[in-house]
Amino acid sequence: MNSCRFGVWLLANLLLATLVANCASLDYRLNPNVLPSYYNLTIGIQGEADNPGTTFDGEVNITLLTTQSNVNSIRLHKDSIEIESCVLYNAAGNVVEQIANTQLTFEQETQQLTVPLTQSLTVNQNYTLYFKYTGTVRADTTVGLFSVSYAEEQTGITKWVLLTEMQAINARLVFPCFDEPALKAKFELHIRRPSGFNSISNTQLISTTNEANNRYVDHFDVTPIMSTYLLAFVISEYRARGDPNELAIYTRPEFYNYTEFSYNVTQRVLPFYSLVFEQSYEELGNKLFQYATTPQFPHNSMENWGLVIFKDKVVLEEEGYTDGWNQKEFTIRNIIHENAHMWFGNSVTLKWWSYVWMQEGFARFYEFFLGNELYPEYQLDQQFVVQKLQHVMSTDALNLTMPMTSPEDSIQTLADINYMFGRISFAKAASIIRMWRNCMGEDNFNKAMISYLRANHLGNTEPSDLFDHLIQYWPPVYTNLRTFFTDFTEQVGYPTIMVNISMENRVVRLQQSRFLSNPGDGSDATLRYTVPITYTTNLEANFQNLTPSMYFDKILDIAQFNFNDPIDWIILNIKQSNYYRVLYDTPILNQIQLALTEDKHSGIAVENRAALIDDLFNFAYAGMIDYEQVFEFIEYLSTEIEYIPWFAAYDGLQDVTKRLTPQQLINFEKYLSDITLAVYAKLGVNWKWQDTVLEVYNRNMQVSWLCKYQNAACNEDVQRSFDENLEKPSPDYRETFYCAAARTSGYDRVLALYKNETNSNDRQLLWRAASCTRNSARSHYEIEILGNSTSVALKTAGIAQLYQQNPDLINTVYSMITEDIQSLANALGSWSRTADVLSEMADYFTTREQQQQFSDFIEKNSASFGDSVTTLKTALTTVETNVQWAERRLGRLVNFLAKRNGAAAVGLTLATMLLMMMSSLLNLL
Ligand SMILES: *[C@@H]1O[C@H](CO)[C@@H](O)[C@H](O)[C@H]1NC(C)=O
Ligand SMILES: *[C@@H]1O[C@H](CO)[C@@H](O)[C@H](O)[C@H]1NC(C)=O
Ligand SMILES: *[C@@H]1O[C@H](CO)[C@@H](O)[C@H](O)[C@H]1NC(C)=O
Ligand SMILES: *[C@@H]1O[C@H](CO)[C@@H](O)[C@H](O)[C@H]1NC(C)=O
Ligand SMILES: *[C@@H]1O[C@H](CO)[C@@H](O)[C@H](O)[C@H]1NC(C)=O
Ligand SMILES: *[C@@H]1O[C@H](CO)[C@@H](O)[C@H](O)[C@H]1NC(C)=O
Ligand SMILES: *[C@@H]1O[C@H](CO)[C@@H](O)[C@H](O)[C@H]1NC(C)=O
Ligand SMILES: [Zn+2]
Repeated sequence: MNSCRFGVWLLANLLLATLVANCASLDYRLNPNVLPSYYNLTIGIQGEADNPGTTFDGEVNITLLTTQSNVNSIRLHKDSIEIESCVLYNAAGNVVEQIANTQLTFEQETQQLTVPLTQSLTVNQNYTLYFKYTGTVRADTTVGLFSVSYAEEQTGITKWVLLTEMQAINARLVFPCFDEPALKAKFELHIRRPSGFNSISNTQLISTTNEANNRYVDHFDVTPIMSTYLLAFVISEYRARGDPNELAIYTRPEFYNYTEFSYNVTQRVLPFYSLVFEQSYEELGNKLFQYATTPQFPHNSMENWGLVIFKDKVVLEEEGYTDGWNQKEFTIRNIIHENAHMWFGNSVTLKWWSYVWMQEGFARFYEFFLGNELYPEYQLDQQFVVQKLQHVMSTDALNLTMPMTSPEDSIQTLADINYMFGRISFAKAASIIRMWRNCMGEDNFNKAMISYLRANHLGNTEPSDLFDHLIQYWPPVYTNLRTFFTDFTEQVGYPTIMVNISMENRVVRLQQSRFLSNPGDGSDATLRYTVPITYTTNLEANFQNLTPSMYFDKILDIAQFNFNDPIDWIILNIKQSNYYRVLYDTPILNQIQLALTEDKHSGIAVENRAALIDDLFNFAYAGMIDYEQVFEFIEYLSTEIEYIPWFAAYDGLQDVTKRLTPQQLINFEKYLSDITLAVYAKLGVNWKWQDTVLEVYNRNMQVSWLCKYQNAACNEDVQRSFDENLEKPSPDYRETFYCAAARTSGYDRVLALYKNETNSNDRQLLWRAASCTRNSARSHYEIEILGNSTSVALKTAGIAQLYQQNPDLINTVYSMITEDIQSLANALGSWSRTADVLSEMADYFTTREQQQQFSDFIEKNSASFGDSVTTLKTALTTVETNVQWAERRLGRLVNFLAKRNGAAAVGLTLATMLLMMMSSLLNLL
């Protein structure tokens, strides 16, 4: 699976999981006394191609082997399907007994169906359990078998697609089955459908038979031995690109041209995996490999064996609209991710849902690191550090985090299982896998993976099976590897390593303690970890060797090492290869900062520059250091032009800038202009053919920030470029550029472009861009947003743009909206949506005056808002928390920025100091 909506899930599911855990101690596991080996399944669509209906017929014969004596009943899963008849046959095909419907028992909560038997079955014998039933083709949700529709572009005719999503436990919505990942079997599928449709499934279509009444049955080849959640089929009018017997992408005919890029990518990726794993895709047991796209899906994609399903937007590149670098990176990563699952997940499957990371962590890992080998232009190895590792480190420092591996019996309900599909199983696991790879060396790691995949082909594993293979190929080390592994997989969180140097800069001492973002939130601060230590100093500045020089044992309080000669600086955790933060003593940090401003940043790796920045922002957030120190340190950025450190910087800055008052922002703007001088001089606002991918991303980010914070050069340059140049910016820069243009004098033209645009993607983009306007904010609000030419979704997005893209204008926007709140409520068609808009806006309030105004407003209008007044009151509480946080944490920073911007005599910036140093050097020469 690949998804990007984890933030909300995490919290919602945590709450749900706790609720269920409190009220139920049911056993959701089957503990089967029989093992299924073969499902012979027929699904029949009742409706026609132009109206597929909401019901399907099903028949299934499940071959079972009894593993115990005295089997008097058989327990398996079903969800909302209606059983019509149930028969048990013996191996010879004779009826053992017919089980009346009234005899079957069903437990709703665990979705277990019990088939009682009048006589015990013989142990170690095959039987066949037959069911005839009907089920629902769902239209309102995207689970089990469901239908979605789209309007054909040329004709406007509604077309239907029927497709499946069985992960995690939805196969039971489609057929009665032993719906647990370890209960693998082979599947033989038959699909009965009307003419007009065609069907595809995991395996090859072998034949189609014609029945009466416009009914055709498609017969598919038997699947490899696999889990129930990997079964899939799609019934549609799709057209295939490629060879339907080998490798093909299915999408609606009008999208055919947009799948060329995806097809090219998968043609490269699949053979490459075969090389890396020394086991080809075909050898896994299925010759066929297909993609299908869908307008609606619960995730970005799903790795059904032989039939990966993607949301349309993931794998379609429309020339000139959705074929920018960003989109191509997204496509490439999703394809590599899903293809990895053919090995990690489909062939070698987790024993139980408590080990989701053993599939998702590897898929995420290869997505970036195999991606980096095949498509080096995206520098995914570097991007991983800021996009995934640093990101998940924030989650993993909060009380709501969880360990990668949970005890099996703690994961029972659907909510428990869904909760496992969170950032920890994806990004943290990928970070830990990367740490292992770097510690043991890439060659050893690859060998371990080859042997793990081979040994467990078609099997099910738990973490210790993986650890066996890692240990087998690990170079000799003085540490307990199993403890090292489980410190990070079974415990939550990670350590901060604190570094200081003493004895004339020759002796380095390290200590560890768990990093917590909110030390008072109930998290266990005493956890300790086995920490691989890598470091380099100014003496050798080697940022290539990622083999640990030692493992800092968790029972030791201090680790220490000496140098013969004094050192100027030391950097730990080379390339942020391992999963921890590093807190340097102030004297070392000052030396590092100096080194960063020297030629080529003294060779300090780009990942470490990003790590230094990200760590400092997090230490400040946690109250371990002051933000003033962070802002002083990142003055080094005035010499930084690379995307990766800047990404980390803006990621940290956004928490702070969101809390600065409009008054304080003026000083921040000056600061930002100063530290971006070099990078802005290099990138400018105009795209160039020779840009690297990361330069394109970097310009996008810089222009977005600089123009938003009223950097004069940025706004003038965009304005000039927009006036002189009628060429459309590339798709991935389009929104940023048009937004910046609308912010200055380009509003009318951007709005005209929006009104004229027919491509739906670009229409939304241009709308958001037009909503960045400053000068025409009032008319944009009154005519466009309050008017009735746009959807409620666009109106809401437009209001957010008005103040988020012009943070200094928040008071103006707030007054404009609240002076006539009735009009907004009319335009949005509801008071509850109006409350949502205000609540989102309140998250940007930074002053006591705003808080007071908001509070008065709520009081005055509470009658109009009705029940939604709760939303507003919650938002008001958040304002209090935010303002308090700023008062507590940002005082010194605010003074620092004011002083720095004020008297030059007091606030000499690092940049000017450097300039002075350089010019005095020049004078000497
Ligand atoms: C599966 O069922 C179909 C139709 O019911 C039948 O033709 C086929 O022979 C069965 N397969 C096996 C292996 O029994
Ligand atoms: C199910 O299996 C039994 C026993 O082998 C056989 O008699 C019956 O025809 C099968 N039904 C279907 C629909 O395949
Ligand atoms: C049961 O069926 C399986 C799969 O069809 C077969 O491999 C196995 O030999 C059978 N076992 C017995 C005891 O007949
Ligand atoms: C697809 O591309 C071909 C060749 O460039 C073109 O002739 C055809 O009109 C395109 N089809 C669609 C649906 O855009
Ligand atoms: C796909 O690959 C072909 C052959 O290498 C190439 O000509 C074509 O331009 C590629 N298409 C895209 C969209 O990358
Ligand atoms: C969160 O806090 C509670 C106590 O408030 C504690 O029992 C629990 O272990 C904490 N969770 C984590 C993951 O640290
Ligand atoms: C609107 O679109 C038409 C056709 O694509 C084009 O000729 C015209 O110049 C466009 N107008 C504007 C203001 O961009
Ligand atoms: Zn996945």
